[in-house]
Amino acid sequence: MNIVFDIEAIKKTSMEAIIPRLFVTGARDHRERDRIYEKHEKQYAMLTWLGWQFTGIHILDVGARGGTSAFCLADNPANKVTACDITPIYKNIDIRPFLQKGGIDFIHGTAEDLSDDILKRSPIISLDISHNGYDEARFLNRLNAIGYDGILIMDDVNFPRKFKGLHEVWNGIKRPKLLLPRPIAHDTGTGIVIFGQHTVSVVLPPDESQGQIS
Ligand SMILES: C[S@@+](CC[C@H](N)C(=O)[O-])C[C@H]1O[C@@H](n2cnc3c(N)ncnc32)[C@H](O)[C@@H]1O
Repeated sequence: MNIVFDIEAIKKTSMEAIIPRLFVTGARDHRERDRIYEKHEKQYAMLTWLGWQFTGIHILDVGARGGTSAFCLADNPANKVTACDITPIYKNIDIRPFLQKGGIDFIHGTAEDLSDDILKRSPIISLDISHNGYDEARFLNRLNAIGYDGILIMDDVNFPRKFKGLHEVWNGIKRPKLLLPRPIAHDTGTGIVIFGQHTVSVVLPPDESQGQIS
């Protein structure tokens, strides 16, 4: 894979079709839902755009909560998405609408429960789980152990004040990795880790600062 995160193209990604379907867990009403969504819109536009860069692939969304990230990743109907979450309540409440959307399967269980097979056949994996660092480190170790070949997207890796353990895990990753620039990511840091022979780069608008590639 050669993924070129084009900031201008990502910013132009239409969210019109997605917004009405979005559910943000914990929102008391539509106003709060919109406020939470606005904060995360850049990241969701990026996930939506990313799904449209591929045809006929399987994408794994680990840590699905209400299904928003899965919705975005599955916006392109040419791909299949499997979403996984440890928390059963979401299965009962928020996850129902996205189960009804074609192209998304839901697994109720932990990241550790996922089979080697599903990891191996998912060239794109989004990891947004407990943020304690321990669970994320275990997941990374597992990908290393099975010889995973693909791209891992990690949420909130650059917010040490709140997620110290996760930040340390991110800093300790020796593989090629990239912190996406803020206009297309969470302000708390969205990291990309490359497993295998793939290239990932960012096309910046002339006046934006560089993403940090290491
Ligand atoms: C921040 S939320 C995910 C938000 C979602 N990715 C989105 O953008 O819409 C984190 C989710 O991870 C789940 N979680 C925590 N630890 C987990 C684990 N070990 N395996 C699977 N899910 C886990 C939680 O239940 C929670 O719903």
